[in-house]
Amino acid sequence: MSFKIRTLPAEHRFDVEPGETLLAAALRQGVGLPYGCRDGKCGSCATRLLEGRVDYPSGQTEALEGQPEDTCLTCQAVPVSDLVLGVREVAAVARIEVRTLPCRVSRKERLNHDVMRLFLKLPENQRLRFLAGQYLDFILRDGRRRAFSIANAPHEDAELELHIRHVPGGEFTAYVFDSMPEKSILRIQGPLGTFFLREDSDRPVIMMGGGTGFAPLKGMIEHAIHRGFDRPIALYWGVRARRDLYLADLPETWSKRLPSFRFVPVLSEPDPDWHGRTGFVHTAVLEDHPDPSGYDVYMSGPPIMVEAGRIALEAAGLARDRMFSDAFEYAAHPKAKDDGAA
Ligand code: FES
Repeated sequence: MSFKIRTLPAEHRFDVEPGETLLAAALRQGVGLPYGCRDGKCGSCATRLLEGRVDYPSGQTEALEGQPEDTCLTCQAVPVSDLVLGVREVAAVARIEVRTLPCRVSRKERLNHDVMRLFLKLPENQRLRFLAGQYLDFILRDGRRRAFSIANAPHEDAELELHIRHVPGGEFTAYVFDSMPEKSILRIQGPLGTFFLREDSDRPVIMMGGGTGFAPLKGMIEHAIHRGFDRPIALYWGVRARRDLYLADLPETWSKRLPSFRFVPVLSEPDPDWHGRTGFVHTAVLEDHPDPSGYDVYMSGPPIMVEAGRIALEAAGLARDRMFSDAFEYAAHPKAKDDGAA
């Protein structure tokens, strides 16, 4: 038996087939519910369950921890009655088709000791429409998926750029680093997720990235430059040590094109001769912006960084609906956005 779902305040309606998750049904019917990992971990899909009941047959509800009681994770929830959901829909994503396509690895470029830059070429005459900051999945032969943020901006879509971190024990990243030849053919699905640059806002922007969480932020900044953005952007990039930074010339290039752009690298285990910022990246953000309430903040990186940022920013007065995040694991876990995604 299928169930009927109503969303508020948008007043959209969609049906959910037996056993189907709310998110899968919504995306199938063009309703733009927010989401990220699709794995019960990141909390991006959390919505308010105003009426009705849901079940979690997968048992993957990690992101429910600490959330208000009426929270529902649409990526895992299966309805057991008709429902009313309170949710801020993301119309821009609903308008873009999610496609499954073959692609060829056109180039591999080592960015630092553990990050590989991969360029993917789609078949002739094919383009992937996406929003700056979204991600894609590789679909492996056995059906497993690996998720990675798209690091280029949509206007430069002749190739797709990914930043892949080598994960000890990560089968796919070991393959990418050690044996995957250029010209390999892979299958991708995308674009995915609702982490993208909101252009319908006039607030200044703070971006906070950890490790390869830099990738989607790079795509957003390049998109902002292309669009002639006049809102200030401050990018804070948290890594352990100097050797973890990469594409070191880019921020300077960006500041020439985007006069109000500011770049702040933050090292948690600084090299002895480092004279820049140190410590947690969210602490550096708040030291410089003790009142973040007037900003839009984009966070991309490991869940622990994103969660720490979310808690600290909220405590400092930033509303949750002005925080946009993409949390991913660096793990060998089969369904995690494992080797640097978002
Ligand atoms: S927890 Fe549902 S999309 Fe991440």
